[in-house]
Amino acid sequence: INKYDNLNKLIRHHNEKYYNEDNPEIIDAEYDKLRKELEEIYQKIPFVEDIISYDSVLNDVGAKVNKGFNKIKHSVPMLSLGNVFNEEDLSGFLYKIRRYLNINSDSEIEIVAEPKIDGLSCSIRYKDGKMIHAATRGDGYEGEDITNNIKTIKDIPQILNGDYPDIIEVRGEVYMGRDDFLKLNKKQKENNKPIFANPRNAAAGSLRQLDSSITKSRSLKFFGYALGEISASMGDTQWDIRKSLRAIGFKETEPAALCKSQKEILEYYEMIEKERSNLDFEIDGVVYKINSLALQERLGFVSRAPRWATAHKFPAEKAITKINDIEIQVGRTGVLTPVARLEPVGVGGVVVSNATLHNEDEIRRKDIRINDTVVIQRAGDVIPQVVEVLLDKRPGGSVPYKFPERCPICHSHVMREEGEVALRCTGGLVCEAQAKERLKHFVSRLAFDIDGLGAKIIEQFWNCSFIKSPDAIFTLEKRVKNEEISFVDKEGWGEKSVKNLFDNINKSRNIVFNRFIYSLGIRQIGEATAKKLALFYKDIDSLIEQLRLAQNREHESYQSLINIDDIGVLVADDLIEFFKEPINLDIIKKLQEEINIEPYEINVDESSKVADKIVVFTGTMEKMGRSEAKATAEKMGAKVSGSVSSKTDYLVAGKDSGSKLKKATALGINILSEDDWLSLIK
Ligand code: IVH
Repeated sequence: INKYDNLNKLIRHHNEKYYNEDNPEIIDAEYDKLRKELEEIYQKIPFVEDIISYDSVLNDVGAKVNKGFNKIKHSVPMLSLGNVFNEEDLSGFLYKIRRYLNINSDSEIEIVAEPKIDGLSCSIRYKDGKMIHAATRGDGYEGEDITNNIKTIKDIPQILNGDYPDIIEVRGEVYMGRDDFLKLNKKQKENNKPIFANPRNAAAGSLRQLDSSITKSRSLKFFGYALGEISASMGDTQWDIRKSLRAIGFKETEPAALCKSQKEILEYYEMIEKERSNLDFEIDGVVYKINSLALQERLGFVSRAPRWATAHKFPAEKAITKINDIEIQVGRTGVLTPVARLEPVGVGGVVVSNATLHNEDEIRRKDIRINDTVVIQRAGDVIPQVVEVLLDKRPGGSVPYKFPERCPICHSHVMREEGEVALRCTGGLVCEAQAKERLKHFVSRLAFDIDGLGAKIIEQFWNCSFIKSPDAIFTLEKRVKNEEISFVDKEGWGEKSVKNLFDNINKSRNIVFNRFIYSLGIRQIGEATAKKLALFYKDIDSLIEQLRLAQNREHESYQSLINIDDIGVLVADDLIEFFKEPINLDIIKKLQEEINIEPYEINVDESSKVADKIVVFTGTMEKMGRSEAKATAEKMGAKVSGSVSSKTDYLVAGKDSGSKLKKATALGINILSEDDWLSLIK
C-alpha cells in the first residue's frame, strides 16, 4: 500500500506538470510505464465490495479537474446544517428555536422530516422555465459551473413544467443509487480501474468531470429539497415547497413526514433507521426543517447553518485497530494535540489512519498507550476518535503514555492556562510549527484564499525560506525579479506555474476587512467574531488604536470592546494580547504596504432608520426572543451593545426593565418600548 501511495503521488505530480503547467518532466513512454505499474499493484488489492478504495489517480480525468470549471457566485448562500446525535440534542434544538421566537414551550411547531441524502449538493438556476446554469456548493458563496454535467442527469428538467416563478433556483442533492454504485464498481474492476469507496465518492467523481459524456454514462440521480433565489413565492410552508417542486418536474426526498411533536419526530427517525437498508440510496441521517417559511425567515442563520433546520445523524461507525504511535501536533495558537497513528482500517467506506486523542487528560482518563488495540469511531465528517482501549489485547511491558513537557518542535516550555484542558507551547512565533500554521491559516479559504498556495506549498516555501511571515507572500514576486531568490531547481515549479502563482497572489491583494481580521489567526476569533469587529471598528488603524487604549481596563475603549455582542472578557484578553505584540503589529504594518483592505459593509436596507445606531436591549421582549431582537437590529445595520453609556442611541426597554432603564433615563437617552422599536425598524 505504501508503494501504491507513492506511485499515486508521483503520477499526480506528472499529471500536474503535463496538463496544468505544460511542462512535462518525463517522456510519455515512461509515464505509461508508471501507470501500468500502478494498475498492477491495484489489481492485487482485494476487492471488498463496499469498503475501502484508495484515493487513486487512476480515477482522475486529465489533471485538470479543479481548474477546468468556471466559478459561479450563489445569489443566496448555500448553507450547511448543524447536527444532532440524540434525543437530548434534538430537545435542545427545539428549545432554542422556541426561545429565539419567544414562544411557549408547549406550543406546537410543525417540522418537516426527510432523509439526509449522502451525495453532493448543487444549485440549479432557471429563467423563464429554462435551465441557465448549475453550480456545486463550493464554499457556500461561490461554486463551480457544472451545467453541462447537470444537463446529463435525467431527474433534472432542463425545461420546467406548470407554474413557476421567472427566476427560480432549485437546490438539492446529486447522488448515485446503491445498485448503480455496485454496477459501476463492478465495471471499474473489470476494466482494471479503481473502485469507489462509497456512492458519495462515486457521485462526486462522476459529476466533477470535464468531459460530460463520462458523467452521462454514470447514471446519477437528483432530489430537490430547497430553494435559492426565487422571484415569486412557491408557497407558505416547506411542505408546499415539496409539492411545488414536484409540480415543476423534480423528485423529492422520500419518505418524508410532517411532524407535530418531538415524539412524532423521533418516531420518524426510528422508522427511517429501520428502513435505511431498503432505500435505494445511501443516507447518513435525517433532516428536520421548520415547516413555516415565515418562521424560517425570522430564525435566519448563524455563521453557516440555518437555525430552522438540523441534521439528525445516524450513530457513528466503529472499527478495531492498533495504535502504532502517538504524535504531538502543534497548532496555530500553540495548542498541543496528540494524534494516534493507526494501522489503516476501513470505517464506513473510508480508510482511517489517524485519530485525534484530544488532549493530555483524555489520554490519561482512557489510559491510551502506544501499541494498544482500540475501538475507533467516525461520526459524520468529524475526525475519528478512540472510544475504548481493549485491555485484554494490551501487550506485556507497555507503559503509560507520557505527555512531553516541552514543545516537540521548538522545545519551549508548555503550559496549561487556568480553566483550560489544552497544553500550549509558549514559543509564539518563535515556534516554527505555530508560525507555519499561522501562515496556512492566513492563505486558507475563509482568509486570503490564495489559489495554488495551499498547506503543502507553504511547507515548501517555509523550508527554502521564501516565506517566513505573511507579508513575504506579497513580496515574493519582487524578490524574484530582484534576483534575491530563484525558483530555478525548486521542485514542482516551472515558468508557467510560477506565473500562475504570482497572478493568484496579486488577485488577493484586495481583501475585505472582516476576512483580514480573520486571517490574522487570533485565538478565538472565528469568522463571525471577525465580522463583528470589522463592523464595529471599520478599519485596521482604528482597531489597532482602540485595542491599544483598551490595554487600560479602565479606559472606555475597553468598555466598548466588551460591549460588542458576543465578546466577553476572555476574547477581549486574547485580542488585546495579540495587538500588544510588536511582531504582530510589525507584520500588519508591512502587509499594509502590500495590500488594500476594503471596508466591510453589510447590505443594509437604504430606508433603515437605525443604521450605525448603538442600541441596547433590556427587560423581557414580548414578541421575540432577545437573540432575535439583536439579530434583526444587526440586519438593519444597528450596533447592539450590552450596556448603556452616553454613546447609546436607543434603549429598547421591555417588561421589567431595571438599572439600565434608570441609567438611560439619567443620561437622557432615547427610550423605546418594544412596539416603538418594531415600528422604527419596520
Ligand atoms: S436542506 C439550508 N435537506 O446535507 C439547508 N439538505 O450536511 C439546506 N442534504 O449541505 C439543506 N439531504 O447538501 C437538506 N433532505 C435534505 C438533505 C440535505 C442532504 C445535504 C445538503 C447540506 C448537507 C449538510
